Amino acid sequence: MKRLSSCANGLDRLIGGGFPENDVILLSGGSGSGKTIFGLQFVCTPKSEPGLYITFEDGPEEIRSIADSFGWDINLAEEKGRVRVIKFDPFQLEDVMDLIQNNIREMRASRVVIDSISSLGTYAKELSELRRNILLIKEIMKKNKCTTVLISETPDGGISRFGVEEFIADGVIALRSILSKGEYRRGLNIVKMRGTRHSSRLHQYEITGRGFSVSQKALYS
Ligand SMILES: Nc1ncnc2c1ncn2[C@@H]1O[C@H](COP(=O)(O)OP(=O)(O)OP(=O)(O)O)[C@@H](O)[C@H]1O
Ligand SMILES: [Mg+2]
Repeated sequence: MKRLSSCANGLDRLIGGGFPENDVILLSGGSGSGKTIFGLQFVCTPKSEPGLYITFEDGPEEIRSIADSFGWDINLAEEKGRVRVIKFDPFQLEDVMDLIQNNIREMRASRVVIDSISSLGTYAKELSELRRNILLIKEIMKKNKCTTVLISETPDGGISRFGVEEFIADGVIALRSILSKGEYRRGLNIVKMRGTRHSSRLHQYEITGRGFSVSQKALYS
């Protein structure tokens, strides 16, 4: 199975070398857990694989300034056509699906981030509609040979907000915040990864000026 680097320092070693190519990975976590930073690192830091960053809520400028603060020159990458950051309206999903596909084809994207899949759920009339939309996204990504990070906002420490997202994804990574001795610590746990023998421990991770990095050590060992 071919692998594509997650670009998060230390993570590839825990998942057999990287994300299985063309898979859809759900990245879940609470507010401020680093989901957007993870997604930006995934599309901005590779030298040659084009990446598309789709945002449904934050403005593109906000997203670009986060990338800039880590020294990932997103403006230059966009000028060169290697990265695109696009904001879509989750209300008009039918058109959005076509636009996403057009952008992938135009820039020959092999990496895609959707920030966030939870916004889609908020606008869906019922759960079956959300499920259908996630399946449609997955189909588009597979057809266009993209490896995709679907960001999921989870306010209550679960894996997904609507309880369907994790079943559709090929892989699930959960970011957790654990209170220990009066201090919140960041923990990452690989819930599933298709065709991969992966760590099942809770790994400490941190966000530094260089981005997202995951420790090989378990948080409780
Ligand atoms: N330069 C930095 N050095 C260390 N930590 C940082 C740095 N920049 C941001 N952070 C941490 O990252 C957090 C924000 O990360 P990010 O925006 O990726 O979160 P998120 O999971 O996308 O949140 P939300 O669900 O609100 O969109 C900040 O709250 C802070 O803790
Ligand atoms: Mg975010």
